[in-house]
Amino acid sequence: MKTVVIYSSSNPNGNTYQSAKALAEEKRAELIYLDRYKIGEYCYKHSHSDDDFVNLFRWVLGFEHIIFASPVYWYAVTPRMKAFIDRITDFMDIEALKPELRTLREKQFSILSTSCQEKAPAPFTEMLVGTFEYLGMKLQEQRHVHYPYAD
Ligand SMILES: Cc1cc2nc3c(=O)[nH]c(=O)nc-3n(C[C@H](O)[C@H](O)[C@H](O)COP(=O)(O)O)c2cc1C
Repeated sequence: MKTVVIYSSSNPNGNTYQSAKALAEEKRAELIYLDRYKIGEYCYKHSHSDDDFVNLFRWVLGFEHIIFASPVYWYAVTPRMKAFIDRITDFMDIEALKPELRTLREKQFSILSTSCQEKAPAPFTEMLVGTFEYLGMKLQEQRHVHYPYAD
């Protein structure tokens, strides 16, 4: 299955990168670092003609299985991951983009989280599962990697 791991983190080489890289190797997947792309926050006027989102999302739609990887930052995904998710709304708002969005209904998604606790918190996973199931995707796997803080 053609798979991509999209990871975000304030640290390009931190815990989430280590876990995302290992998972990408295991799944023979592409690995991309979301924070290197320019992705503006959602805007009702869709005035983001100069950022990377539309081209990046179109590229992501070329995969059958999309793995979202993020650290837990205060019970939530990173701001860049949230901006990416919010901007999917562009493909719902703009009539010409809707057919591309519907292709998500044939795709699977997984979640990779890292945090200093043993489990990902419910608000973190519920937001991701709720959003991507709403968009018609099928959940394949949830994986959490625990990085305890050193004393
Ligand atoms: C701003 C910030 C907020 C965090 N919030 C949480 C949290 O709510 N729960 C938790 O278990 N760990 C929390 N952590 C710990 C990180 O989730 C954990 O260290 C993670 O593996 C860091 O990944 P990174 O190296 O890719 O940034 C937080 C860390 C930071 C920097």
